[in-house]
Amino acid sequence: MKSKSVQDIAKLYTEYFLKEGHTIVPSSSLIPTGDPTLLFTTAGMVQFKPLFTGAVELPYRRAASIQKCVRTTDLEVVGKTERHCTFFEMLGNFSFGDYFKKEAIKFALDFSLNHLEIPLEKIWVTIYLDDDEAKEIWKAAGVPEERIVRLGKKDNFWGPAGDSGACGPCSELYLDRGPEKGGPNCGNNPNCKPGCDCDRYLEYWNLVFNQFNQTVSGELLPLKQTGIDTGSGLERVAMLLQEVDSVYDTDELKNIIQSIETLCGKKYDESTKVSFRVITDHSRSVFFSIGDRIYPDRTGRGYVIRRLIRRASLFARKLGISEPFLYKLVDKLTEIYSVRYPELKSRAKEIRSVIQKEEELFLNTLEVGLEELESLVQRLKSEGKTDVRGNESFRLYSTYGFPMEMTRELVIEKGFSFNEKEFEQELNKDRDLSRASWKGKKQTYLTGISDTQNLKTEFLGYSELKSQASVLYLFKEGKQVSSLNVGEEGVIVLNRTPFYAEGGGQLGDIGYIKTNNFQFQVQDTQKENDTFLHLGLVMRGEIKAGMEVSSEVDSVRRQNLANHHSGTHLLNGALRRTLGDHVSQKGSVVSPESLRFDFSHPQSLTEDEIRKIEFDVNEAISKSIPVKTEVLPIEQAKVSGALSMFDEKYGNLVRVVGMGDRSKEFCGGTHVSNTGEIAYFAILKEASPGAGSRRIEAICGDSVVDYFQSAFQVLAEKVQDYNLNAKEIYGDLKSFGILDKIPAPEEIQELFETKKTVAVTELRQLKKKLEESLEEKLSLLYKEKKKKEALSFQLNPELVESILQSKEEFGGITVVKRLFDGVEAKSLKDLADSIKSKVETVVCLFGSKEGDTSTLVYMCNKVLNDKGVHCGNLLKLSLETLGGKGGGRPDMAQGGGKNPEKLDEAIALAVTELKQKFGGK
Ligand code: SER
Repeated sequence: MKSKSVQDIAKLYTEYFLKEGHTIVPSSSLIPTGDPTLLFTTAGMVQFKPLFTGAVELPYRRAASIQKCVRTTDLEVVGKTERHCTFFEMLGNFSFGDYFKKEAIKFALDFSLNHLEIPLEKIWVTIYLDDDEAKEIWKAAGVPEERIVRLGKKDNFWGPAGDSGACGPCSELYLDRGPEKGGPNCGNNPNCKPGCDCDRYLEYWNLVFNQFNQTVSGELLPLKQTGIDTGSGLERVAMLLQEVDSVYDTDELKNIIQSIETLCGKKYDESTKVSFRVITDHSRSVFFSIGDRIYPDRTGRGYVIRRLIRRASLFARKLGISEPFLYKLVDKLTEIYSVRYPELKSRAKEIRSVIQKEEELFLNTLEVGLEELESLVQRLKSEGKTDVRGNESFRLYSTYGFPMEMTRELVIEKGFSFNEKEFEQELNKDRDLSRASWKGKKQTYLTGISDTQNLKTEFLGYSELKSQASVLYLFKEGKQVSSLNVGEEGVIVLNRTPFYAEGGGQLGDIGYIKTNNFQFQVQDTQKENDTFLHLGLVMRGEIKAGMEVSSEVDSVRRQNLANHHSGTHLLNGALRRTLGDHVSQKGSVVSPESLRFDFSHPQSLTEDEIRKIEFDVNEAISKSIPVKTEVLPIEQAKVSGALSMFDEKYGNLVRVVGMGDRSKEFCGGTHVSNTGEIAYFAILKEASPGAGSRRIEAICGDSVVDYFQSAFQVLAEKVQDYNLNAKEIYGDLKSFGILDKIPAPEEIQELFETKKTVAVTELRQLKKKLEESLEEKLSLLYKEKKKKEALSFQLNPELVESILQSKEEFGGITVVKRLFDGVEAKSLKDLADSIKSKVETVVCLFGSKEGDTSTLVYMCNKVLNDKGVHCGNLLKLSLETLGGKGGGRPDMAQGGGKNPEKLDEAIALAVTELKQKFGGK
């Protein structure tokens, strides 16, 4: 076969499908479009999900793309196999109610034979169990019958991506790599064919014939329009055409591997290949994800990225690399991938710095954590135990930052079992306790210390995040001690420190205090008078008073704190400018994740005021105003117009933080050096914490982008639901469609990059407008639905007929019953009237559920009242089970209650009563 580079294949693919009438659509973000249930974009079809279900007006009916994808289900085997990757690019062509099986098969075969230049005799295909139609098409296209294999649901039924959406049977193309790839067992085995576990036949293209829409509850509903979703892994195709055994040996990935060789001075060979592959793969996932603004974090997508960086660090260590390293690959990755994704060029700098900081953070604890793990393993072995318990793995997570999955991989490698459930339990326990643990220990430490001139800690943290210092005092369980040992919690007092102690609303810093043989994790910093207390845990070695140590603040967290603190000052200024000078600060909490600001103001803020305030702050950010701090005598500071807290006590000298004409405040906190660092500001909530005050909760930094991306994802899902319902009810496309106005994650990102100042304002307005418009449409739809329903209940002979078919007759009466979903009482009465007009002696027992409420309508012909049927009494009986209220006349009763799940049972009681009375069985 003719070898082709990855880029050549990509180019051939898009050129071919363009020629075949497809719109070439750029890859969407790795943050899935329109689907908040999906963590990452896992396939080319993800961005087209609404087009498949019909929840949107179609902008085109044929599309093709090369999609960035992340799949992490097999993360732990990545590196250990030839082909697993967490990141890959997927070639795909799609049809939305346009072509179906015949053309999809024709395109795939034509492209394979005439463009990829794969010889026909090497191609095999699989079809879904009973898909004879596909089989006939393949045969007609030239694939001999003996190379068409039927496979079951596991292999040949695809989707949906996420919890719901388009899915269907599929048909796959395989390449026969020759008997020698089958290994000794399969090589010449005539029964070896696609579906076999050996390496001879490799799947390279999946054609999904979308026929169903799977609902969140797992129901398969027929799609209104069938569709085609094909996916072909670009790296996989390159591997086959380049006739190499591993995707890691294809041209682009090899290029990365070579870079790693140069950087670490080790060769890529049998003994090192797992580490090389892990680093190569993970570097790509991390690079593309951060490119799409997915940042390392404790939960969700961010957690996956954190896990990947940490796993890569672990494997880099096996290559002898103990320094941050992954970030150095960013230049190479940018060079390779900006050919297909030019936007990465402008992201490279940030990607580099995010990876580097995350690596630094983890490397602080990697060595110590591994030692801890080793001693745990030794201890368990000596005790004859074979499983690692939840509290043990949790400690590796909470203290050493080992992602749970990484610990699992490490202990399983060492022959132990791992208890994931217990780990989760520990995690939940910890969440409940959260930061409270150190708060409980807030107490006085220094009363017994006599050499008081030593008690003023020199604070270096306005300009430094690292420093050398000497240990003055140590405390354990509140008492002064001369040393602290590994595993012990305690407090360290230094003569000088870069750690900020909680104060002025800003939380205390965290980080490390260490020497070559000792490491202390600072979990909080508090202040007692002028003395800084570093509270935490000894992770390694022993520390004694008098020792020299180096200390280092967690810089990422500190930056986030600074963003939120400076953001708070800008907010304070903006509030006063917008609402008036009566605004004064009542309280504030500055954390790395958010800020909370309480201020005096008599009424809640209008939408317009919120928008103005937000804009004011974002404008100040975009002006990149230098932040100036000065220490002034208090009187001078006061006349300078700087804001101070009314009831706060200040010393003779105060620190004043100024941000141009936007803000000037007394403040001891740590700030950004330029407002531009804050990046963005968004208000999440405005409420009242108590009389006469208002409270604003807001976020700063890149999490603002994240916030809007998620908010619009949720909205997109709601709109899709609405659209599908609207289509049912209105029967045309005209009455819906706001889905196309909802910006995709990458559009939101772009908006933030191009329109820094107004992005938040515009998105807030858009979100509000869309929410209102959806609300309005929903209420119209609801009315229309009820109208239609009422009509169909009045004039629906089939419904009447179908109900009568299940009638019961006994003792001269006819009983019919039926349960409905979301039908109003009025319609149920209309229906009963229709039935009554057809049958002279009928009792109708109807119920309907809607959400957590239920409705009952019992009616009968008046003649039955003389025979002793009493609808009101029957209803009463049913309501005893259901709970709720109701009543009525002998010939008509109506009631409503809760417990819709008991509706069936409640109606059955009425039937039993009638049977007893009229002698039915
Ligand atoms: N969605 C299918 C897959 O991921 C085809 O694109 O395999």
